[in-house]
Amino acid sequence: MKYYLAPSILSADFKHLGDDILTVRKCGAQYLHFDVMDGMFVPSISFGVPVLKSIRPLTDMFYDVHLMVQDPERYIDAFADAGADGITVHAEACRHLDRTLDQIHERGIRTGVALNPATPLSVLEYVYDKVDMFLLMTVNPGFGGQKLIPATLEKITRLRQIIEERDLRADLEVDGGVNTETITSVLDAGANVLVAGSSVFSGDITSRYRALEAYLRERNSE
Ligand code: DX5
Ligand code: ZN
Repeated sequence: MKYYLAPSILSADFKHLGDDILTVRKCGAQYLHFDVMDGMFVPSISFGVPVLKSIRPLTDMFYDVHLMVQDPERYIDAFADAGADGITVHAEACRHLDRTLDQIHERGIRTGVALNPATPLSVLEYVYDKVDMFLLMTVNPGFGGQKLIPATLEKITRLRQIIEERDLRADLEVDGGVNTETITSVLDAGANVLVAGSSVFSGDITSRYRALEAYLRERNSE
């Protein structure tokens, strides 16, 4: 299994967003996490399609779009057109999750399903085969810089077991509160794609990225 960091630009300084993205790319990042918030599904409003469109030509990284948006099927085409490589929707925000996953696949990109901390894994029961990446929220979505909720670790472990039992090739991403203090516990629990916002995009981005990446490097070389 391969492990990846997915720096979230939600915590970047938008005065020099392009430079910050190039900095993580230079560090070797292969994923870029793009947090879209609509002020309905979550309290905050962040950024959307025009921002994705303008940063798309900057790098060849995997642009991992996380839609914290109510009824996200309304925006799949727009984000796919803007250059998303994968689109993750919240199970809680979809009336017809199965159909929305088909809609994403029809655009030739990867599907993701995100679950809030209090949402049980059972909502995935009948869509397992349509998901390329599971995203378990380790905080309640809406803001960067929150503390990881410890109860979510057990959920990561359980989902990793299910992925193995069913022999799925999907990734297991975690999002929220990942930093040098919590990274070992989420890796041990079974996550392989780790979103990191405030622990990367503040202060010296390169050294903060490298500090986290060191934990993955050990496991990637095993
Ligand atoms: C939370 C977002 C996250 C956020 C993570 O609502 O989905 O991707 O940027 O931020 P940190 O890493 O600061 O917890
Ligand atoms: Zn996110």
